[in-house]
Amino acid sequence: MNGRDLVRSVKAVNLSDAALRVRMVRSAWRRRRVDAVGLAPRGAERARTPGPVTMVEPGPGGGVVRFARSELRVRVTSGGAVFWGWDGAEPGPSSALVGGSPEADPRAVLEPDKEGGWRVVAERATVVVSRLGAVELRTPGGVMLRRDLPPRWWEPVGGGTARWVQRSHVAADARFFGLGGRAAGPRLRNGTYVLWNTDPGGSFGPGDDPLYITMPVQLVVADGGTHLVFHDNTWDGTVTLREGEEGAGSGHDRMGSCEVRMEGGPLRCWAMVGAPARVLHSWASLTGAPAVPPTWALGHHHARWGFGSEREVRRIVAGYQERGLPLDAVHLDIDHFDAHQVFTVDRERFPSLPKLAADLRGDGIRLVSIVDPAVKAEPGNAVYDSGTAADAFVRDAAGRVVRGVVWPGDAVFPDFTAGRVRKWWSGQYDERLAQGFAGFWHDMNEPVSFAAFGETTLPLSARHALDGRGGDHREAHNVYALGMARAGYEGMRELRPGERPFLFSRSGWAGMQRYGGTWSGDVATGWPGLRASLSLVLGLGLCGVPYSGPDVGGFDGSPSPELYLRWFQLGAYLPLFRTHAALRAGRREPWEFGPEVLEHARAALVERRRLLPYFVTLAHLARRSGAPYVRPLWWGSPEDRALRDCEDAFLLGDCLLVAPVLSQGVTRREVRLPPGRWYDTVTGRAYEGPGQVSVDAPLSRIPVLARAGSVLPVRGADGRLALDVWAPGPGRAGGGLVIPDPGDGWDEPELQRFAVRWSDGRVLVERDGEDEAAVEYPVRVLGLDAPGAPRAPEQASP
Ligand code: GLC
Repeated sequence: MNGRDLVRSVKAVNLSDAALRVRMVRSAWRRRRVDAVGLAPRGAERARTPGPVTMVEPGPGGGVVRFARSELRVRVTSGGAVFWGWDGAEPGPSSALVGGSPEADPRAVLEPDKEGGWRVVAERATVVVSRLGAVELRTPGGVMLRRDLPPRWWEPVGGGTARWVQRSHVAADARFFGLGGRAAGPRLRNGTYVLWNTDPGGSFGPGDDPLYITMPVQLVVADGGTHLVFHDNTWDGTVTLREGEEGAGSGHDRMGSCEVRMEGGPLRCWAMVGAPARVLHSWASLTGAPAVPPTWALGHHHARWGFGSEREVRRIVAGYQERGLPLDAVHLDIDHFDAHQVFTVDRERFPSLPKLAADLRGDGIRLVSIVDPAVKAEPGNAVYDSGTAADAFVRDAAGRVVRGVVWPGDAVFPDFTAGRVRKWWSGQYDERLAQGFAGFWHDMNEPVSFAAFGETTLPLSARHALDGRGGDHREAHNVYALGMARAGYEGMRELRPGERPFLFSRSGWAGMQRYGGTWSGDVATGWPGLRASLSLVLGLGLCGVPYSGPDVGGFDGSPSPELYLRWFQLGAYLPLFRTHAALRAGRREPWEFGPEVLEHARAALVERRRLLPYFVTLAHLARRSGAPYVRPLWWGSPEDRALRDCEDAFLLGDCLLVAPVLSQGVTRREVRLPPGRWYDTVTGRAYEGPGQVSVDAPLSRIPVLARAGSVLPVRGADGRLALDVWAPGPGRAGGGLVIPDPGDGWDEPELQRFAVRWSDGRVLVERDGEDEAAVEYPVRVLGLDAPGAPRAPEQASP
């Protein structure tokens, strides 16, 4: 028995309930028994490496290189991404890829390289395969970005899936990012990161790993170039990273290294090379464009586990309204369900949900519902009955429906890896829509089953359809939530075809952005939790999931007024801006922390609303380009090493740099600037980057800087779109993209381009190719001392 697991499970349900405790013990034993019978022990294994090259077969986009004991397929796709797969692995089937296998680039050919090796030269990358099966990824200019050593497999003698390990080297100066949502990032330091979606139980801080979303996706940034690698394999595994060391002048660099180990499944990998924006664009082409949330979801959300009643919901909403605080959505947690059963309503405490929803809607506030995958195993529960009739629930190797324990007690789990089950689940959202909900919050879908010992998930031997291939939970676990997201998204598209679905999910995998976003889960209340929240949003964005945000104020306990405010101020600049807290946690309403906090929180809310057109633009740009709204400072200058190591600030789109306060008592902070001129948006002071500057960060606000020359779409005083234009430096030009809100349907929005330049001592703003008269929005030029007088910048220190 693992003591830590018990503590976590108990923390998770905060057990005073003895009956539930007994269930958790029973469930843990059940899981153990099911696996004892259903999971064949790993017997003797044989190790294997590829051996020497024997022959090659050119093919579309590259070809196949045969070795004595394996074969390697290399394929460059027309989008510029490179695939390589061992032992005959093909790009499909894959849960991550959208629209099947991308087309091969006919111009990429396999040709002999020196020393008996082979290479595929393509426009954006070159892949070199050595005689013994090392694979090198190089830039078109020949710089080595990554060198995979020949892999090694361990095959069960009696047959079955092989374990494997793939070691790679990267440049000594390379930095690693990604791997899904990691609390200790965004820069992933030396250590082993587990690839197994996990509810940490209770709450988590920077030291907890893995968390809810793990992905074998690494973004590696080095002087020589940026690349993304994706090991398309959903099995349990680990990634061990080690940053390199530069031998201070001695010339003896130690390269960085990465070791991917998988418990089974194919050894296949995708790589993309280029500037970060280009890499993320290729990634989105491969795995799908991020869903654009409805506009209201880019506003402020208030959630609470334990509103407890309609009356309390109305009281909170009135609290926002009376104080003139913008509010766009309220989320109902499991306490509004009837005895915690998904797709039900507690009619005593929520007697007229549709009326509540309609009233809130009248005030411009949407209701969002939590949706948990586990269904209470009780005949008479409509979802259980219909799911049983549809044979929707996961079974064990002996064919019995797997039972676990979640909030409603004994529960069963839909198999979202089956198309017919997804279809059945999609239909359940009808009940939610009839209650007036406008969006969905998927939770507990790692999936979690509470257990007194052992792992808090399904038995590893549980069977899954895996879309016709068939397999067990070892392969299906990490894509369970992805399938659930797909079911929810497709359900909403069918039930409400005219609306863009709003969905965010605690767990997920590569490709989840197609269906919606995520949030940071149960982040611990405390300054480290605040830092972890930012790390998660940045890391997920670099894995292609641009819409996320933390529980503002932290999930558990009671934040100090200062911590709450700093969290609120950060949250106001993140895609999902939501206050939320646990059942027994302290208050999270902005007025519960005294008049000063209320005033500053109001300012943050008002500014968020003013920036809504910018968030709308960023959401649509994310869909078109794959670029996250929230980007690391090195996004446009990955060669700047100081930026690569800077983890306490971020870029919000192209225009803004946000420098949150992440420590107690801070009212002034250092901010590292990318190249160019930057304006403090409140003081108007100008700074010339790159380098570091010290800026005021009083309790009333966090520093936000605007890039000189940028065009920021904002909501004007009359509620209509207006442009804030920050003056370019003398002799310089600027510009920006604006996507006016097309509404909540599917109309393809217009992308408007603006150019900014100096002309006759004036800052001119023009619409793409047209003249100044064509700008239909009110324009405010900022960053000037007087009309025509650019403000002199302070030089940043190196
Ligand atoms: C999980 C979720 C949390 C939610 C709670 C009750 O802990 O992460 O957000 O409030 O379950 O549903």
